[in-house]
Amino acid sequence: MAPELAHEEILAWLRCDDPQLLERLWELADRERTHRVGDCVHLRGLVEISNHCERSCTYCGISTANAALGRYRMSRDEIMACARQAVLFGYGTIVLQAGEDPGLETQWVADLVGDIKGATGLAVTLSLGERSPDELALWRASGADRYLLRFETSDRELFRRIHPPPKDRNACDRIALLRTIKALGYETGSGIMVGIPGQTFESIARDLALFRELDLDMIGIGPWIAHPASPLCREGAPDADADQVPATEQMACIVVALARLVCPEANIPSTTALATINSLHGRAHGLTRGANVCMPNLTPPQYRCLYEIYPNKAGSSSTPEQSHRSVLATLAALGRPAGQGPGSRSA
Ligand code: 5AD
Repeated sequence: MAPELAHEEILAWLRCDDPQLLERLWELADRERTHRVGDCVHLRGLVEISNHCERSCTYCGISTANAALGRYRMSRDEIMACARQAVLFGYGTIVLQAGEDPGLETQWVADLVGDIKGATGLAVTLSLGERSPDELALWRASGADRYLLRFETSDRELFRRIHPPPKDRNACDRIALLRTIKALGYETGSGIMVGIPGQTFESIARDLALFRELDLDMIGIGPWIAHPASPLCREGAPDADADQVPATEQMACIVVALARLVCPEANIPSTTALATINSLHGRAHGLTRGANVCMPNLTPPQYRCLYEIYPNKAGSSSTPEQSHRSVLATLAALGRPAGQGPGSRSA
């Protein structure tokens, strides 16, 4: 078992820019990944069911502030067709993701979850933003297995800046909500963006400690990618600050590798943001530096081009078949088998 990493060691790795030392970190993380969760890569079919969003997060391309964006909400039948496609591709999980969309009504989502479970037996992961404990409880009772909600950064001041609360509502404490999600019996996923303007190495070290404290089942990590239509992009990075974390592929990989060492049993995806910032090798780098999950996109092409949370998102003009083949090609090149079944943390 890898010895527990001290805070100072984590900080040293986060600040490391020496290629030879980093090779050592990738090896440590890859060895820990093999040892703890094996070589299989679990595939989760991602369906972006609505790009409506009532929030105005300053980093995100589908924020309500982006008035020029065409909006869509998929029908029940369209989503069911994606679920059947997931089964045909051999995936064990479907992930239903959306902006924070009150048009996704509580009972409608509950019925959808029940229908997917009944028709396919897939594990169902929801990623629908900050929803009330009552809604989350109903969806759990309807059969939802997992919930994803990134806390984005554990720096509360930075979080408040990039994530203004909606009008007429108090700011939600995402970290408290994650504890509620866990208590409801969901396998619970969270994560962060790496390189948000104003994010420091110290704050990423605290994010890693929080991953462990929350005992997360899934941890998603990707680089912040500037979206030209977002306020954060126009603000740019604060004045050259030695403590500013760079929004690079290498930096995101360091955090993925450390997440594997800090939370050795977690399911960690090689994220689309990583595959976007390095279109040739990003996904493979994630998988050889600690990750053990991929989320091929099943969203129909006419919708996925509208789910542009950041620009040039990997696969945004592909079909589900092409996304599937591309992920399988990466696995074949790495000699890693696709996982069978739901691929839960405990399985
Ligand atoms: N760059 C990188 N990741 C982003 N996300 C949203 N906008 C961006 C961006 N511009 C991430 C957030 C969110 C997840 C669904 O996508 O972390 O939780």
